Amino acid sequence: MIEQARGWLGAARRVAVLTGAGMSAESGVPTFRDAQTGLWAQFDPQQLATEEAFRANPTMVWDWYAMRREMVAKVEPNAGHRVLATFAKRHPQRLTLITQNVDGLHQRAGSVGVLALHGNISEDKWLDEPKACCNASQPAAARPPYCKVCGNLRRPAVVWFGEMLPLETLAAAEAAAQECDLMLVVGTSGVVYPAAGLARMAAGKVVIVNPEPTELDDAADAVLRGKAAQLLPQLLED
Ligand code: OAD
Repeated sequence: MIEQARGWLGAARRVAVLTGAGMSAESGVPTFRDAQTGLWAQFDPQQLATEEAFRANPTMVWDWYAMRREMVAKVEPNAGHRVLATFAKRHPQRLTLITQNVDGLHQRAGSVGVLALHGNISEDKWLDEPKACCNASQPAAARPPYCKVCGNLRRPAVVWFGEMLPLETLAAAEAAAQECDLMLVVGTSGVVYPAAGLARMAAGKVVIVNPEPTELDDAADAVLRGKAAQLLPQLLED
């Protein structure tokens, strides 16, 4: 199966890669939906990952993201992140990397132009449309920081449930899917849309890399049952 996928990869002029939380599992970042260790098995997303939750309890939500931000700062990209970055450098213009992950590990491994559909946990932004006062001076250092004049809050620059994805990033990801000869779908359960829809939109072959069954297996031309940091080097190294 892996040889067949390597053959498709060798022939593909345009390759799209869609990654999810499983991509970073071997770096030590918990996934969302693992029954035991997944974040959504331990925490209620409605109380942490929505605008409503943040407005109701900004300090609790800020602290939860700060805890995850500190955790991802301590881990390292794995062999899967690294081989994707190396492949893109060796084959300019051939690979588009689309990720649902907010951990920044693809970028830290050296990938450039990553389409981060769900934002980046190490950044923050204004909760409400900023006024002139918001950007005129440093926000007050608090949890969360806030504008000293109008009280506008800083919030994590991630996409919460019920929010739109960044439009330009999503459009670029859709174009990459529609133009690709091969899409690798790595470490995602395939349940969150519109990201999962990109795999169904792919013009070319679809190869899934995941140790477990996913909601996208029916859209795949090949399913490679295994872990990202182990299988991606076998697939992508010359
Ligand atoms: P999930 O937690 O839903 O799925 C993780 C997937 O990774 C599962 O299919 C696992 O089988 C697989 N997996 C585990 N270890 C792996 C490994 N070593 N190699 C490869 N695959 C492995 O995470 P996502 O699909 O990324 O949204 O979740 C999608 C979105 O839901 C996230 O971006 C997040 C969450 O709510 C936002 O934060 C907006």
